[in-house]
Parts: sequence; structure tokens; C-alpha cells
Amino acid sequence: PKKATVLVDCDTGVDDAMALLYLLLDPDVEVCGLTTVFGNISAETAAINCLRVLELVGMEHIPVAKGADVMIRGDIPELAPHVHGQDGLGNSNLPMPKGSWQDETAAEMIARIARERPGEVHLIATGPLTNVAIALAMEPELPKLIKHVTIMGGAADAPGNQTPAAEANILHDPEAAQAVLSAAWNTTLVPLDVTMEELITEEHRAHFERVATPVTSFVARITDHYFDFFHAESFDVRCSPCHDALAAAIAVGDVEPIEAPVVNVEVECGYGPGRGATICDTRGRYRGHPPQEGARCRVVLKTDGTFADVLSRRLETWPPPH
Ligand code: BDR
Ligand code: CA
Repeated sequence: PKKATVLVDCDTGVDDAMALLYLLLDPDVEVCGLTTVFGNISAETAAINCLRVLELVGMEHIPVAKGADVMIRGDIPELAPHVHGQDGLGNSNLPMPKGSWQDETAAEMIARIARERPGEVHLIATGPLTNVAIALAMEPELPKLIKHVTIMGGAADAPGNQTPAAEANILHDPEAAQAVLSAAWNTTLVPLDVTMEELITEEHRAHFERVATPVTSFVARITDHYFDFFHAESFDVRCSPCHDALAAAIAVGDVEPIEAPVVNVEVECGYGPGRGATICDTRGRYRGHPPQEGARCRVVLKTDGTFADVLSRRLETWPPPH
């Protein structure tokens, strides 16, 4: 058996694409489906990008399902083409993929695969949590059927990125996030506290250009515009955080967090300045995080800062030697 079977719900996006490649290129991980949600771009553009990534590595047999384009309460979201490009892949002008998505919706695929493989599937969510919340409403047994849920999202003790309080994936659908984090399953939250400390740099990108395999060239191309955004917005140099790929690596056990207490988490769903904040009860951090009653969310607060090298090496493993 493989070390993990994962289903990824994503808003593919530059860093989502890197997370997918990270997982797809691990021969010891089975990716059993990709489902898409609005967020960085529309659910349809995200599905097109999932298909592009699958085609790049010759894994078109993995099914893709398209999901929500509005928040769980029907609100129309603001997308992020200024971060990820109009095409979600840094305006890289890639050809359209040959394959297409399935007829079932993202939530239907999540519920179906969970029922078919009870207790086996690790759900990794790297976009807003709308599809997962819909799947929970459709299949009340979902928390029993899914092995674990790892979410890239939130800000525990760090600032937000979309607002001072909120991270984008959570702010894109706070009610959905609250539904997912309060369901009866164990979750892992990979917030900005750690993803903003794991940076993929211009040195990595230059290396990808030199190596020039189809995969490294693809990543060099999609990160060009993305690095400009982070240089303008957050950092003194051209680089980007490894948000979604870090969550993927933690989900499959490749990255062992240094500090990751299991704590109570609530999502602020009010319409004030705190909307979308993830209020994580980290008050125990000064005495080694004693257990909290009822807590089921492992919040990753510290990793070692070397993940971009791990990601970079993984991207170079394709095509495999024969
Ligand atoms: C998250 O928001 C999206 O822009 C990224 O793909 C990542 O999932 C970071 O806040
Ligand atoms: Ca994402």
C-alpha cells in the first residue's frame, strides 16, 4: 500500500499547481481525484488548470470535477487575477488541455469517493472550503468516511493576507470554513504562520530554468508573474510563499511540524473587520500547549523553513529515469 491516498480540492492557482505536482510526482502517494472551487480564479479555470497539470505529467486518468463558483450562502466572491493571472497560472498562455472534467460536481465526487473508500482518503483543501461544506451537507457520514482533512488556510498568530485579520481561502467563504472546522473529523490547519516562512526564491526559479524539464520549465513560467506580486506586496525580493505545497507535504507526512498543537478553532463570520479570521486558541503556547477539551484541529505554528528545497528536488524527479 502507498503511504497516502489523497483527494485534492483546489482553486488552481500557481501555488495549487505546485502542490498538485508535488503530490503527483510522489510514487508513494495515490491521488484519487481533483475537485475545483472558485478562489484564485473561477472553478472552471481551476479545472482547466488541473487538467493542464495532469497532462503535463501524463496522469490524465485522474478524474477532475468542477465545483462551486459562489459562497455557500450564495454571495459572489472577489477572485484574485492580480495575484495568479487571468488564467490562474501567471498569464503564461499555455495551450488548452485535451481532457475535460467529469459530469458530477466537486461535492458529489468528494462524497462518492469517500463512500467508495471509507476511512482511506485524506482530503487536502487548498482553496475556499465551499465544496467541502456542501459535501458535508450532502453526506452527513462524511466525517466518518474521510481519514483526515488538511487545509491550507487561516492565520493563527500571524497577520492575514487578504485583510489584516483574514487569510484568502477562509475569507472567501467563512461560513463554509466554520462548518468544516466544526464537523466531527480531525483536521490540520496549515496557516500563514508557516506558509509565509517557507519561501521559494528567484534562485530556485533560475535553477528550474536551467534544468529545463517540461515540469521545471512549467513552474519557472507560472511563477514569474507570481513572484512580482509578492515582491510588490510582501517581500524585499522576488519570491513566493509555498502555501499549498507545504500543506500537501504536511498532509502526506513529508514535513514534520515543529510546533502543531491540537486546539479549538473558530472562524469569525461577522461582517466587521475580523470577518474570516481563524481564532485559534494558542494561549497554551507558553506552557507547551496542554490538551484542550473537544479540540480536533491541529494548527501548524512552526516548520523548519527548508521546504522549498524539498519541493524543488521533487519537481526535478520528472520525467523518471528509465
Ligand atoms: C491561499 O490563497 C490562494 O491565493 C493560494 O492559492 C493559497 O491557497 C493563500 O492565502
Ligand atoms: Ca489555493
